[in-house]
Parts: sequence; C-alpha cells; structure tokens
Amino acid sequence: MSLYKPQTVECNGEEFEIYLTEKEIKERITELGRELTEQYGGQNPIFIGVLNGAFIFLSDLMRSVEITCEVDFLKLSSYGDEKVSSGQVTDLKDIDADIEDRHIILVEDIVDTGLSMRYLVDKLRKKNPASIETVTLLHKTEATTEEVQLNYVGFRIPSLFVLGYGLDYAQKGRNLAQIYILNEGN
Ligand code: IMP
Ligand code: MG
Repeated sequence: MSLYKPQTVECNGEEFEIYLTEKEIKERITELGRELTEQYGGQNPIFIGVLNGAFIFLSDLMRSVEITCEVDFLKLSSYGDEKVSSGQVTDLKDIDADIEDRHIILVEDIVDTGLSMRYLVDKLRKKNPASIETVTLLHKTEATTEEVQLNYVGFRIPSLFVLGYGLDYAQKGRNLAQIYILNEGN
C-alpha cells in the first residue's frame, strides 16, 4: 500500500512542512505499545479513542499492543474550524461500553490547552472505572494551562498548529500519513 506523504502540503490555503516522519511515528508507537503491553497484561483494558482525531493513532497503537483488549469511542468538539481552541468542550457522542470496574486507556491525538483531556478524565471517572490512564500522541507542553493527567506522551511539540495522521485543519488533512507543522513564514 502506498501512503500519502508529501514533503510539504497546502491545506485551506496555508503551507505546512513535514515535522514527524512515518518512521519516527511508527518507532515511537512501537515503544508505547511495549510499555502498555507490560502494564496491562491480563487486565483486558478498554481503549477509548477520542473522535475524530485519534482514530489513526489508536488503530496503530492497538496493533502494537500484544494483549487482550477492547475498544470504544467518544466524540467531542472544541475547535470548530479554527486553529485555536474555542475554550469550550461539547459532547457529541458518548461511549457505549459499560466501563464500571474496567481498566481504561484514554487515547487522544493531541493535548493543547488540556481542556478536552481534563474534561474527559473527569467525565469517565464518574462511571467508576477500575483505573484510567491517558495516552496522547502529541503534547503542546507550553500551551497547556489545565491540570491534566498525562500518563503516556508520544512527542512533546511546540505550540504551533499541526496536521496529518488523523489531525485536521477544518476537517481536511487527516489522511496525510505523517505529521506536518504550520509554516509560519506564510
Ligand atoms: P485542547 O482541549 O485545547 O487540549 O485541544 C485538544 C483538541 O484540539 C485535540 O483533540 C484536537 O482535536 C484539537 N487540536 C489541538 N491542537 C491541534 C493542532 O495543532 N492541530 C489539529 N487539531 C488540534
Ligand atoms: Mg481531538
């Protein structure tokens, strides 16, 4: 299968350049998978992916974990079509699974202000799971203003808008196989 991975890409009239290659992403996910395999063996955890952004990361992450596990999804909206957070989190879809007494691995594509992740951990905790840990592929460390629980972080990145590998700009760009960063010169 050949993947969509140009060196630079234009999306909604703005220029982005390559930031994390397919190989770098793959290697980091293999490491995360190994750590999760060690931590969760025998516990049948449920991965909960945050739609839409986390669907590609979650599918690769799950396949790098060598234990029995399940998956479910929920959906939030906080960005609209803009490049900066609206500061508001809206529920669009809840999980279907009963997570009481289950081990939860909450999977996000990116933590920016931390508002979404914080909201989600609080929301899921009310359903009395046995445990909740979080995984995010990307963390904009300097942009995070919320007290947020981050157990596994793929890459710490600057506070610039990124695109690809599930991450969108006004819904576009999710199908890029690598991660691109906004070229600020444009
Ligand atoms: P937060 O609530 O501010 O932490 O924002 C988290 C959500 O905003 C993520 O789940 C993404 O959907 C989206 N987001 C944050 N930064 C970016 C970015 O650089 N590119 C694309 N989406 C982003
Ligand atoms: Mg998201």
